[in-house]
Amino acid sequence: MIQFDFTGTDPFLNKSQWEGLSRRAQAAHEAVLNGTGAGNEWLGWRRILQDPNDALLENIAAVGQEIASRADVLLCIGIGGSYLGSEAVIQALSPYFKQQPKDGERPPVEVLFAGHNISATYLSQLLDSLEGKSVYVNVISKSGTTLEPAVAFRIIRAWMEHRFEDCDQRIIATTDGSKGALRKLATEKGYRTYIIPDDVGGRFSVMTPVGLLPIAAAGFDIRSFFYGSVAMLKDLDKDGDAAIQYALRRYALHEAGYTTEIMSVFEPKLAGIGSWWQQLFGESEGKEGKGLFPAVCTFSTDLHSLGQYIQAGRRNLIETFLVIEKDRLSLDVPNDASNLDGLNYVSDAPLKRINDAAYKGTASAHQQGGVPTQHITLASINEEALGRLVYFFEHAVSIGGYLLGVNPFDQPGVEDYKQEMFALLGKP
Ligand code: PA5
Repeated sequence: MIQFDFTGTDPFLNKSQWEGLSRRAQAAHEAVLNGTGAGNEWLGWRRILQDPNDALLENIAAVGQEIASRADVLLCIGIGGSYLGSEAVIQALSPYFKQQPKDGERPPVEVLFAGHNISATYLSQLLDSLEGKSVYVNVISKSGTTLEPAVAFRIIRAWMEHRFEDCDQRIIATTDGSKGALRKLATEKGYRTYIIPDDVGGRFSVMTPVGLLPIAAAGFDIRSFFYGSVAMLKDLDKDGDAAIQYALRRYALHEAGYTTEIMSVFEPKLAGIGSWWQQLFGESEGKEGKGLFPAVCTFSTDLHSLGQYIQAGRRNLIETFLVIEKDRLSLDVPNDASNLDGLNYVSDAPLKRINDAAYKGTASAHQQGGVPTQHITLASINEEALGRLVYFFEHAVSIGGYLLGVNPFDQPGVEDYKQEMFALLGKP
């Protein structure tokens, strides 16, 4: 279902200390399995998969179904780990453009996001666009105190209260079981709530109600998504080689002076997975002056902007291609007898063949240009494959953090801008 090929990094690795590094990576993998590494109180993202709560999955699917049957729009309010996972999965599984619903069918709920920026224009235009629509809100914050979603929620709550008599039935809060302003507010108002387990950090929370409720409301199969992750956990617990190799090679290149890992996708709808991966790796590894800077590129769009730099700029980049083997739809380039555009050499060829040639050609050119390349190939995009991918990266980043000697599960650096911002705002 997912193939890994890390051999493109071989020519760039100094293998003289490989045995020692491999042993360290194996030990880091075992520390994840045995819960003996730094931040081991945050391994709930494994625990929830080891002991699946099917009743919770069914409940979330049912509430998702209720939203799908009553709402035009589900507005998800959250930032960082409280929205990136669901946004990524919904983007990857949805059609690019709104489809005409079949006769008698309701169009799928549109899932929109707020609270991930502080733009007055964004929020005003978002609310304007919701006039006359049936709206549900899922406000998501583990701490229940993050400023961006809290401010957005205050504004959206007031908007909802003026428009819907059953407003409190339409708002669902996903937050800590007991702590935080959002928990208090939800209890006062009598909102329905979901709990984010204490031992699951924000960026590891996509398999909790944080990610699952929006994905269910959008009409996708959360059971298959969740159990894809369970299957990958079982596979890696038995044989962790894929995650170990990915983490080990990234680490060895980091130690050799590489600073940046690009995730390159040739299917634009995978860009959201790249944004989720950026947060997962950036927040987990970027500490104490260490870590690779994660950046997503969407090709071939970005081949005509960043391509020049990747091919021939500073040689500090490694590149991980995330690609799919099988397109959902196929389209051929028509034959044209006049051949005025000179394209008959690709006529009757499926676009996929051209996109694959762009991928293979790019990988080969970048590799020859001095960029170590690696490849992760999904057979196709579906819930199960995405669930597997989520767990793969969560496991690999934990090994990566331990190799770097940092706690992969905290994010102390995120607090610094908040302190400066609160001082400017005069927060008591
Ligand atoms: O990974 C993390 O923990 C963070 O990025 C959080 O997800 C983000 O800061 C949002 O926090 P909260 O859910 O508490 O509002």
